[in-house]
Amino acid sequence: MNQATPSQTVRVDLADRSYDIVIGSGLIARAGAEIAAREHGIRCAVVTDRNVAEAHLDALLESLAGAGIDAAPLVLEPGEKTKRFDELIHVCDHVLGAKLERGDAVIALGGGVIGDLTGFAAGIVRRGMKFIQIPTSLLAQVDSSVGGKTGINASQGKNLIGVFHQPNLVLADSDALDTLPIREFRAGYAEMAKYGLIDRPEFFAWLEANWREVFAGGAARIQAIATSCQAKAEVVAADEREHGARALLNLGHTFGHALEAATDYDGRRLVHGEGVAIGMVLAHEFSARMNLASPDDAARVEHHLREVGLPTRMQHIEGGLPATDILMKHIAQDKKVQRGALTFILTRGIGQSFIANDVPQDEVFRFLEDKRAS
Ligand SMILES: NC(=O)c1ccc[n+]([C@@H]2O[C@H](COP(=O)([O-])OP(=O)(O)OC[C@H]3O[C@@H](n4cnc5c(N)ncnc54)[C@H](O)[C@@H]3O)[C@@H](O)[C@H]2O)c1
Repeated sequence: MNQATPSQTVRVDLADRSYDIVIGSGLIARAGAEIAAREHGIRCAVVTDRNVAEAHLDALLESLAGAGIDAAPLVLEPGEKTKRFDELIHVCDHVLGAKLERGDAVIALGGGVIGDLTGFAAGIVRRGMKFIQIPTSLLAQVDSSVGGKTGINASQGKNLIGVFHQPNLVLADSDALDTLPIREFRAGYAEMAKYGLIDRPEFFAWLEANWREVFAGGAARIQAIATSCQAKAEVVAADEREHGARALLNLGHTFGHALEAATDYDGRRLVHGEGVAIGMVLAHEFSARMNLASPDDAARVEHHLREVGLPTRMQHIEGGLPATDILMKHIAQDKKVQRGALTFILTRGIGQSFIANDVPQDEVFRFLEDKRAS
């Protein structure tokens, strides 16, 4: 462990469902001790994907064994398509086959796909088992492992089937990101920048100044992950089940999910965080078009996301542009639509996002048509 960069702990305050997010260097190797200190005498299943297994599974199993924790590993195929019903059954069968009890734990070792799928299984097997997140992608460390949203995709859209099931512990090992492909690191960075754009303009400015250090690792990376987790923890504590303010976390996501669906969730063309990056630029540009914000803010957002290497325009998507009517169909299917009215997260400037109800569909259509042509 790097002694110069001690771990940080962020508490998610949810009464009897409160939990710690520990962020630091070398946490996978210490996971057994961290878990044993909080959960006495548990056994567990570890669900991961092939990429993560190659890089980190042995270290985790060794650490669990060292702390006297029995672990039954299950390795799935990587990729968004793993978030589907038959893989959910696979995970449930594995957990039951390992004869785990309700008080035992299901551990997700991986990115958001593994976390969402495994959390869903943990939420329904034996009517809810303990759930531990060991996120290994940046996106999972700053976003999907925190807040208890779990689920799988349906043919009608992303994340349409699932449950809220809070983890009991999140261990975010900043060193695990050293094996993450750079494209995935950038995708997670988009979600990090999102917290600045929602309501922390000073964090967005800090990222503009320090993003190279965040990419390099060490203390700046831990600090940026911890700030992001703190931002998410506060939103989740205020609105656990998304009756109100939690929807702000969807900044860029309505456009982003539509782009993902329109590209058939094909990660070679677009990964989730890239869709969010393009979506956040579109949300700022649409806000400017509606005279809510200055076009300079949209330009600033695009400049920064482009600087770190993210796609920022629909034209950057490999394999051609989805037709506007297809995008609109996906937007209308998105779960942020209530009784036919479009709900978008729009902005009055950097760090001034708000929930806009009743956004006219035809304005969005014309905007996307113009963006396709530009
Ligand atoms: N539950 C939530 O609140 C929430 C929030 C945001 C996103 N999500 C979901 O998260 C998913 C996206 O998550 P993601 O971007 O982590 O995708 P992912 O889980 O597919 O991981 C991305 C890729 O990186 C690989 N990988 C992960 N960690 C690695 C490591 N340390 N070393 C080497 N390879 C590694 C994976 O195998 C995969 O190929 C989407 O399904 C999205 O809907 C959920």
